Amino acid sequence: MSRRRPVVTIDGPAGAGKSTVSRRIAERLGFTYLDTGALYRTVALAAVEDPEVGIADTDRLGRLARDLDIRFGDGGTRVLLGGRDVTAEIRSPEISQAASKVSAVPAVREGLLDLQRRLGADGGVVVEGRDVGSVVFPDAEVKFYLTADVACRAQRRVDQLRESGVEVDFEATRREIEERDARDAGRAVAPLRRPEGAIEVDSGPLTAEQVIESMVAVVRSREGS
Ligand code: DC
Repeated sequence: MSRRRPVVTIDGPAGAGKSTVSRRIAERLGFTYLDTGALYRTVALAAVEDPEVGIADTDRLGRLARDLDIRFGDGGTRVLLGGRDVTAEIRSPEISQAASKVSAVPAVREGLLDLQRRLGADGGVVVEGRDVGSVVFPDAEVKFYLTADVACRAQRRVDQLRESGVEVDFEATRREIEERDARDAGRAVAPLRRPEGAIEVDSGPLTAEQVIESMVAVVRSREGS
């Protein structure tokens, strides 16, 4: 497959700063932003809301993932489920945990694969997730693995929620992130890991702007080569 513009993938654990960084890199490069975590979150929301679908009902979950009408608006920052704006709802702690559970179901991952590949097929896209450089776009032109230690990620999540008016406990947030890390990295299908060929970036000691600058520079140098 030859694309005129690159696919840039950014994988990494919860709270490493992927969303901020991915969105701003996409803006800087004039690329589309594709938040694959939002797709898993939307499937989780639909499953939680549907009394017919249990979290253990893997066949139904798979069908749900394949058939849902999920669209992005506003440069990839708003999420629409059957036309309903669910951008805020899918960020709640309840849906975060449910998303981590449904994303471990192979039929759900399979059900979302086509949609993700279609959305990135033309290139000129920054794709954020857990397996986007390893499974979804193994042929991506530029791959990053963005990480930071767990305390740093927990603190960032607390600050981020506080900014949006939600107070959460640091220790509880840290435990929740550890649980999600264990589940995302320990699952049998597409576990979280650094994709082959990905450049690892530790966001701990860096500002978001520093991370963005260095990643944009890498993409530009690859585009020019
Ligand atoms: O990045 P996020 O926190 O919005 O992702 C929500 C959940 O979805 C997370 O627990 C892991 C899962 N996920 C995944 O398994 N694969 C992806 N490509 C993206 C997210």
